[in-house]
Amino acid sequence: MHVGIIMDGNGRWATSRGLARLVGHKRGASRVKDIVKNSPNLGVTTLTLYAFSTENWKRAAHEVEGLMKLFRGYMQNNLLELHDKNVRVRFLGDATPLAQDIRLQMEQLSGLTKDNTGLNLNIAINYGGRDEIIRATRSIAAKVLDGTLSVDAITEGTICDHMDTREQADPDLIIRTAGELRLSNFMIWQSAYSELMFPNVSWPDFTAEVYAECLEEFAGRVRRFGNADSN
Ligand code: FPP
Repeated sequence: MHVGIIMDGNGRWATSRGLARLVGHKRGASRVKDIVKNSPNLGVTTLTLYAFSTENWKRAAHEVEGLMKLFRGYMQNNLLELHDKNVRVRFLGDATPLAQDIRLQMEQLSGLTKDNTGLNLNIAINYGGRDEIIRATRSIAAKVLDGTLSVDAITEGTICDHMDTREQADPDLIIRTAGELRLSNFMIWQSAYSELMFPNVSWPDFTAEVYAECLEEFAGRVRRFGNADSN
């Protein structure tokens, strides 16, 4: 079971309490730790977290820097524990514009955990679904140009194989916290048949109990993948 989460509402959670937005992000980071820890018990085998979008660079510089600091802290503080818990960490998105030290930490974390067989944790940083499709298209086009791929051989599978999620199943469920009813460029290729859920809590209030309730509601959904009704 693959769950994707759009962790929204940190800023509103903080400002509605008279706190700085970064306080909300900080609390959000502690939710990440808890939700990762609880995923295997709830039957989740792959968890994809949307941590920073290609559009998030437009935020105030101090908020972007604060988020980068949280990513550094998360990777530093959780590297050994994630490995110890058999979690395999991968990153989705274009790492190129990220600071060198963050890229090194990302490589270290994904390298250290690459043979782990427990939870698959994907962290999407500087990720956008459209950007991912552009990057995939470029690498497919390059193969066509150099003659290693013919145009007629391009299938749905070819596209999947060039996405950041290659070799991974599509998300069964996508959860977006804090009430907005949209995907905002998250896994737009992979979400074709995903169930969507919009719990009415901000990410800093997304506890393991709320997570378990979402999975329980998901278990009651009937998925047809485009087939006719088969009750
Ligand atoms: C959206 O809330 C949240 C983000 C842009 C950042 C998500 C980051 C974290 C939860 C922190 C750390 C993550 C990791 C992986 C360690 P928002 O700021 O858009 O909230 P708003 O819509 O209320 O303003």
